[in-house]
Amino acid sequence: MSETTHTRAHVQFPSSALALKYAATFWFLTAVVGQWLFVAYILSLYGGPTVTGHLEGWNRNTGLFNGHVVGDTTGNIVFASHMMGAALITLAGTLQLVPQIRKRARTFHRWNGRVYMATAGIMALGGLYLVWIRGGYFHIPGALAITLNSVLILVFGALALRHAMRRNIAAHQRWALRLFMVVSGVWFLGVGLMGWIIINQGPVGMTDNMDGWVDLFSAYGSYLVPLAILELYLRAKAAGSPVQRYAVSALVTAATLVMAVGIFGAYMFMWKAYL
Ligand code: HEM
Repeated sequence: MSETTHTRAHVQFPSSALALKYAATFWFLTAVVGQWLFVAYILSLYGGPTVTGHLEGWNRNTGLFNGHVVGDTTGNIVFASHMMGAALITLAGTLQLVPQIRKRARTFHRWNGRVYMATAGIMALGGLYLVWIRGGYFHIPGALAITLNSVLILVFGALALRHAMRRNIAAHQRWALRLFMVVSGVWFLGVGLMGWIIINQGPVGMTDNMDGWVDLFSAYGSYLVPLAILELYLRAKAAGSPVQRYAVSALVTAATLVMAVGIFGAYMFMWKAYL
C-alpha cells in the first residue's frame, strides 16, 4: 500500500490505529513489569555471590546444569558474565523501547543501545560456550533451539546496528524490535511455560528432561512465536486494513493476558523465593 493510501486509511479509521497502539502499550507495560522482576531475581540470586566472590552461592538455584564448578575458571567466568549480562541486557532493553527516552534523551538511547548490542553479542557467544563446551543442555533438539536463538541475536543485532549507522531509522526500529524479541527468548520461555502450567493446572506435555511435546515446542516457540506476532503487528501498523488492525490488536491483547498469567506464575514459583 502506498504512503498516501496508508495515510488515508489511517485518517478514515483512526480507531483501528489507536486500538493497535493501545494493545502494543498494554503489551509493553506488562512485559516491563515481568522483565524488571526477572532482573531483581537475577541480581538477588547471582549478584551477591559474583560481587563478593562466593561463587558457590550461584548453585542455590538447583535447576542449573553447572553453575559454579570448582576449578573451571573459564566456565565460571563465562557463567558470571552470562548472569550479569542477563540483568544488564534485560534492564537496558526495556529502556530502549520507551519512546519518551528515545525522543528526549538521544545520547542515552545511543549509549544504552551500544551497551545493549555489545551485551547481546557477549550473551549469545557465552551462551554457546555454556551449551556446547560446558554441556548445558538436556538433548540435541533443545541445544539446537537455543543455538538458533544465538544466531538470530547476532544477525538481528548486526542489522539493527547497520541501519542505525546508516540513519535508516524505520528499518533500525524494526530490527531492534526483532532483536528485543530474540534476546527475551529465555524470559519468554520461563513465562510461557509458567503460563501454560497455570492455565492447564499442571505440566501438561512436559517432562523433567524437557522432552515433552510442550517442552520441545516452546524451546523454539519461545522466540519464534513472539517474532511471528511482532511481524503481524509491524505489517498491520504499516499497511493493514482496519479489520487487520483490529484482529492484530485482539491477538496482541490475548497474548499479553497469557503473558501476564505467566509472569504471575514465574514470580510465585520461580523468582519470589530468591527475592
Ligand atoms: C540473551 C538473552 C539471554 C538471557 C537474558 C539469558 C539468561 C539466563 C539466565 C538468567 C540463566 C540462569 C538460569 C536462571 O537462573 O533462571 C541462564 C542460564 C543459561 N543460559 Fe542463558 N540467557 C540468554 C541467552 C542464552 C543463549 C543465547 C544461550 C545459548 C546459546 C544461553 C545458554 C544458557 C545456559 C546453557 C544456561 C545454563 C547454565 C548452567 O546451568 O550452568 N543463554 N541464562
